[in-house]
Amino acid sequence: MFQLQWQQLSHPVLSSLATDVWLASVPSMIPRLTGNKCLKLKYHIQHIAQTQAVGIVSFGGAFSNHLAALAAAGAHFGFATVGLVRSHSPLPSNPTLDFCRAHGMNLVALSRRDYQRRHDADFIEWLKLQYPEFHLVPEGGSDLLGIAGAASIDVSKTPAGPATHLVLATGSGGTLAGMARTFQGQVTGIDVVGDERVKTRLGEWLIGHDHWQLRASVDSSGYGRFSTETLQACLQMLEQGVIFEPIYTGKAWLSLLRLLQTGQLPAGERYVVFHSGGLQGLQGLAARGLITPAQWYAFEQALIKQQLLD
Ligand SMILES: Cc1ncc(COP(=O)(O)O)c(C=O)c1O
Repeated sequence: MFQLQWQQLSHPVLSSLATDVWLASVPSMIPRLTGNKCLKLKYHIQHIAQTQAVGIVSFGGAFSNHLAALAAAGAHFGFATVGLVRSHSPLPSNPTLDFCRAHGMNLVALSRRDYQRRHDADFIEWLKLQYPEFHLVPEGGSDLLGIAGAASIDVSKTPAGPATHLVLATGSGGTLAGMARTFQGQVTGIDVVGDERVKTRLGEWLIGHDHWQLRASVDSSGYGRFSTETLQACLQMLEQGVIFEPIYTGKAWLSLLRLLQTGQLPAGERYVVFHSGGLQGLQGLAARGLITPAQWYAFEQALIKQQLLD
C-alpha cells in the first residue's frame, strides 16, 4: 500500500484568505513511477502478474510521463513494455524516450492519424492482433483498472483534519474519476488538455456522483505549453521544497490560487492538492529550451535533494 506524504503549503493568497492547503504526494521506491502513475498502473501490473501476458503495451506522446512510468515499472518488476508513441518515424532522441529505451521499452512510432484512433474499437482490435501476448493499457492508464487504482487511496485525511476540497490536474480523467470515489468533499479537476471527450467520459465513469467539476486551467496556453506566470509559480514553490512542473501540477496550483482569489472556489476551507507527479518532464522542457539553463538548474537541485533523479 502507498504511504501518503503531507506538506502544508504557504502562499500570501492563502494567508490573506485564511485558507488551509495541504499537498498530498505518493512517494515511490521507483523514481519515475510516482504520483498518479503508481496508482493508475497498480492493478494493470497486478493483472499481467495474474494472467499469461508477457507485458504491457500502451500509448503516449514523445514526452509522456505515462510511458516513462511504464518503462520504469517494466524494468523494476520484470515485464516487457511496448510504447506506441505519437511521433514521426524514426523516433527522435529526447530525455523521456531515451529513458524508456534504456529501461527496455520497445518504442514504435504512430502517425498523428493513427494516434487519433487510439480509442476506436477496430483499431484496438487490430493492435491486440499485433501484440497478442500483451495487456493493452489505454493512454494515461485511464480505464476501469486505472480508476480503481486511483480510488485505492484516500487523500481526504490531512494531518490537520478532514479536507473539504480536492484539487488535481486532469488530462484523460482517470485520476479524478478514481479519487472522486473515495473523497467525500468537492473535487475540482483542472483541465490541462482541453479535450471535450474527457468531460463526457468523466460523466460516464462518475454516474451517480455530483461532487466533482472540471475547470479549465487559468493558464490557457494549451496542452504541453505554459505561461511565464505558471513557470514562475512553480519556481516560487521550490523555496518551500515543493517541485511542481508547468504542464500539469503547476497549472493546477496556479488555477487553485486564482479560483480562490476570484471567489470561484470558497475561501476559509481546507483543501488538498494532489501531486500527480510528472517531474520527469522537466528534463524534456530543458532539452527543448522551454526553460532556461538557470531554471533547469533550480529544478535539478531540488530533484537531486529529494533523490528524484536517477
Ligand atoms: C503529471 C500528471 N498529472 C496529471 C495527469 C492527468 O491524469 P489523468 O490523465 O488521470 O487525468 C497526468 C497524466 O496522466 C500526468 O502525467
